[in-house]
Amino acid sequence: MEYIDLRSDTVTQPTPEMREAMAEAEVGDDVYRDDPTVNRLEELAAGMLGKEAALFVPSGTMGNLIALLVHCQRGEEVIVGNQSHIYLNEAGGMSALGGIQPCPVQNQADGTLAPEDILASIRTEDVHHPITRLVCLENTQNICGGVPLTSAYTRQVGDLAHGKDLFLHIDGARIFNAAVAQNVSVRELVQPADSVMFCLSKGLAAPLGSMLAGTNKFIVRARHIRKMLGGGMRQVGVVAAAGIISLEKMTKRLAEDHARAKKMADGLRQVRGLIVDAGSPYTNMVYLNLSEDVAVNAQQIAEKMKNSGVLVDPENAKRFRLVTHYWIDDNAVEKTVSAFAKSLNYHPPH
Ligand SMILES: Cc1ncc(COP(=O)(O)O)c(C=O)c1O
Repeated sequence: MEYIDLRSDTVTQPTPEMREAMAEAEVGDDVYRDDPTVNRLEELAAGMLGKEAALFVPSGTMGNLIALLVHCQRGEEVIVGNQSHIYLNEAGGMSALGGIQPCPVQNQADGTLAPEDILASIRTEDVHHPITRLVCLENTQNICGGVPLTSAYTRQVGDLAHGKDLFLHIDGARIFNAAVAQNVSVRELVQPADSVMFCLSKGLAAPLGSMLAGTNKFIVRARHIRKMLGGGMRQVGVVAAAGIISLEKMTKRLAEDHARAKKMADGLRQVRGLIVDAGSPYTNMVYLNLSEDVAVNAQQIAEKMKNSGVLVDPENAKRFRLVTHYWIDDNAVEKTVSAFAKSLNYHPPH
């Protein structure tokens, strides 16, 4: 059975055009900087982000970790959202591998960290304290609803961080979704950041890979640390070829995913037993809960949905996140709404 897979945008298969480009890619040993396709991808990414240089890395997790290892020394501290991917979902890499300590700050409902909370979390000079070195933002903020952060807010945090001699890193796994949703350029959104990571392997549909961007000096150091972590890849132009299509073509179609998420949310709002979050979706993620009077839990609904050909991943006993992407078309949106209605025994009025 071909499933409608809404568990994440990481499930995206490469497009037929990507597979062709991958088969035909010109390659070389990238550790020697000999891979023309990787070199092109890195130049393209740096240009689109308005940064001096970029580095191809195997995953978003490695990209974030490299950034933290470049910016921070052992025993230093990073201000992160308490709902951020870096804090919650990167296996504690910063502390396990870098001796870096996270300082979690509450994410507001709109995905931001309140500037006053950031300020209050910066350590004073004291022999007892770790040294605060870095602030991390996540754009779009996944757990807060796939909500995009604005360029004005990012500039405010950038000014605040730089005014206190701190660096700013953006986990921009879905930064192109953030840009499209707000009709601004990615370049503007990341301008205040000293480093940015974004993923090719999510809504941009490449089979794997992320980009890390910053100054030339930052990327020289990042390349060294990537090698240290075992991320120096060889004829990886076969993958970078898909990444070039991600940047040149897939970034231009993300509004379709946002429109379909909206259509899906509108449909699900009509189904008794479901409560779609107010304001959802902001980008390509629909967040919803089962209402109190639904007797079954989200896992049981997910099993029923699977029997109807739709894969969804419960967040907890009551909550779902549904993610639209390249392989979710209008028909899939309709089928998803029907499958939810069926799994809740709801028959819409004719
Ligand atoms: C916001 C965010 N940052 C970073 C990552 C890490 O990316 P990867 O799965 O490529 O390691 C993810 C992955 O889902 C993410 O959602």
